[in-house]
Amino acid sequence: MASSNNTTYGHQQLENFLLDPTYLNFNHGSFGTAARSVLDAQHNYVLQQEARPDIWFRETYKTLIVETREKVSKECGLSTADNLVLLENASAAVNAIFRSLSLQPGDIFVYFSTAYGMVKHTAAWLEVDKGIKILEVQITVPITSTQSLLDPMRDALKYLSAEEKAKVKIATFSHISSVPAFIEPIKELAEIVKSVNPNALVLVDGAHAIGQIPVDIPSLGNIDYYLSNAHKWLYAPKGSAFLWTNPQQIDTLRPQPSVISSENNVAGGTDYLTRFGYTGTKDFTAYLSISDSLDFRDSLEEVNGKGSIIEYTHGLAEWAGDHLTELWKTSRLSPPEFEAALFNVVLPTTDYDLATQMQTDLLNDHGIYMLALLDQPTNIVYTRLSSQIYLERDDFVKLGDLVLDYLTRSS
Ligand SMILES: Cc1ncc(COP(=O)(O)O)c(C=O)c1O
Repeated sequence: MASSNNTTYGHQQLENFLLDPTYLNFNHGSFGTAARSVLDAQHNYVLQQEARPDIWFRETYKTLIVETREKVSKECGLSTADNLVLLENASAAVNAIFRSLSLQPGDIFVYFSTAYGMVKHTAAWLEVDKGIKILEVQITVPITSTQSLLDPMRDALKYLSAEEKAKVKIATFSHISSVPAFIEPIKELAEIVKSVNPNALVLVDGAHAIGQIPVDIPSLGNIDYYLSNAHKWLYAPKGSAFLWTNPQQIDTLRPQPSVISSENNVAGGTDYLTRFGYTGTKDFTAYLSISDSLDFRDSLEEVNGKGSIIEYTHGLAEWAGDHLTELWKTSRLSPPEFEAALFNVVLPTTDYDLATQMQTDLLNDHGIYMLALLDQPTNIVYTRLSSQIYLERDDFVKLGDLVLDYLTRSS
């Protein structure tokens, strides 16, 4: 059971993490960072695993994984844990689903231009291996309203022929996209896809969601798969994620993990939970630590109020977005309601090479990690920043001043 040493949000939280004191992390989003007490809990599992290996793999791990699945399911608004499995990351979940589908040449895979690279690469593999077709729908920034996301999808599907519509087999949306980071209107997007072909499968890539925004899977409407990483925003160790499959698809489509283990006999009808429950001998302790990361968060929220982590990180992001756009005389890539703790601010330069050099120099000279990004096809140079419970307004003030100073000196 992992708990917090210090409960005050802001710099005092650094005590609960292992971040280097000389490193100022504005990019929690890419890899997260685990809480100290959660890593201690994980280490305790490792000790049990190594002390009595057979007991661990045959009994203890199997009991703990059920408890963890139940806790995660409850956190996601699910009334049963029967459809949720744990795995190592979002990439494993996407690959498990798409590579176990039986697809025919000409079947269509739809996604936005902002889909994560791994999703695009998995689709590209299906294109090469199975002859499917990819329909990439361009999102143009800045987005100004929900229609900026719904209209391009609606239009792209509207002009398909009746034959092509019937071939739309998979659509993937990000609950929060990676770069740029936007919260996507999942329910409405799923409705658009299913209105074109009711049999199309909708997978929601929520890699950035759990811990950053409330996740309530039933409220997302008619979706078939939902996955999220616990190692990004939930403070769990690396290699911890979950996948929910709509029960309607579990028996008909039989999703398989990428690794088929000694406990997974496809011909013998091994069930979904067993298939994903054991994927060969490895360290599964990160999966179990998701439970401890939920405990860690509960211990903070017992003092600061339920929902206070998200409230603090969103509030800080919104303040920082306002501060930086005012200081840099630039803009955001969307209205604030499309952003959560991840937010995009246009940098006060149009020179991407200079921005990437600045990223390197800020790290080397000030220990600051900040991503410089280039949007295509607009050529807008921007940064995607992460707010966190261990950051304060002062950190963003410092970043704002350093960026302005750097770019003024370099121009
Ligand atoms: C939207 C999105 N999906 C999937 C992933 C992949 O996550 P992982 O590397 O943990 O598999 C990421 C990683 O940043 C992401 O941003």
